[in-house]
Amino acid sequence: MLLQKLARFFSSDIGIDLGTANCLVYMKDKGIVLSEPSVVARVEGTKEVVEVGLAAKRMLGRTPKNIKAVRPMKYGVIADFDITEAMLKHFIREAKKMLPMHKTLIRPRVLIAVPSGITPVERRAVQDTADRAGAGDIFLIDEPVASAVGVGLPVSDPTGSMIVDIGGGTTEVAVLSLSGIVTKHSLRIGGDEMDAAICQAVKRNHNLGIGPRMAEDLKIEIGSAYPQENEDRIYMDAKGFDLISKRPKSVRITAKELRIALNGPVTNIVEAVNSTFEQCPEEIAGDLLERGIMLAGGGSMLRGLDRRISDATGLPVFLADDPLHAVANGTGIILQDVDRMAKAMALAVE
Ligand SMILES: Nc1ncnc2c1ncn2[C@@H]1O[C@H](COP(=O)(O)OP(=O)(O)OP(=O)(O)O)[C@@H](O)[C@H]1O
Ligand SMILES: [Mg+2]
Repeated sequence: MLLQKLARFFSSDIGIDLGTANCLVYMKDKGIVLSEPSVVARVEGTKEVVEVGLAAKRMLGRTPKNIKAVRPMKYGVIADFDITEAMLKHFIREAKKMLPMHKTLIRPRVLIAVPSGITPVERRAVQDTADRAGAGDIFLIDEPVASAVGVGLPVSDPTGSMIVDIGGGTTEVAVLSLSGIVTKHSLRIGGDEMDAAICQAVKRNHNLGIGPRMAEDLKIEIGSAYPQENEDRIYMDAKGFDLISKRPKSVRITAKELRIALNGPVTNIVEAVNSTFEQCPEEIAGDLLERGIMLAGGGSMLRGLDRRISDATGLPVFLADDPLHAVANGTGIILQDVDRMAKAMALAVE
């Protein structure tokens, strides 16, 4: 007992949203203390890390030959173990700097949000990587559960709530009731797939090669999932390489062209939401008709996606106030009472 109290005094609890696009760290009693792109720049062929986070993202596609900027997470799971470990180590170290000295002596308890569709082997890989990166006790929670808690859905009530979290690599659709998942769908499609669809369409339509960062800028600035007024007249210049002349070129891309380019991944997301709804027991479906669907994650900010999902399902759709922080905030709320929540959410936390 005394040992437990001492350990609590010295250690500190951390919640991590280990996302494909962004990694966020929540520190108990402090809130979100770090939010950085999941990117690492390293000297090629060595383990030497040059930059992590935003500074490394700025280097993507622009590095000299001996330095490589990479995103070590793909589809919500670890694609490169060493680099993810280096990234986590860096973020945990940065977060610990905000603690008083006596709290840095013991490894922090860490709650990590992971996609609900990952395999046992992928779960183990997250645990091992976090362990090597300096975490103490490690708990994993399903990302849609953390997201639902983070946006304030009443997940422990005997009523159905639906969350759709659209990230960079995954879309998580889940219906929750009484602290458990009633039905879910985890899709390896998200913002990255949208960016790839834009790259392909720009190549096909204009013989212009653009990088994923340019595609992401186009998506955020003028992309949409639903026809907008005057979409023929809303445009942005895409800069890249002419694939025939091999010279730099800039082409005017309209919002309509982007909406058409995004239709594939958007349709996949809408279909996943629809089929999750169709699998709900009648009582829960009735709850959802009344309470609607909550959207979170960065991808949910795509213009008109709420309307597109609402049209397809016939349900009211709401966008979270703080979509990029939903999962991290959820880990924070759960951390406030990790032991009790772990019991209550036996399905979701392990
Ligand atoms: N305004 C916007 N419109 C459309 N997409 C956006 C917007 N802002 C951010 N995004 C996209 O959101 C995605 C990142 O969202 P988020 O941080 O929730 O993902 P993640 O949690 O890292 O990924 P995952 O949960 O799949 O592992 C990126 O693909 C980004 O391009
Ligand atoms: Mg996410």
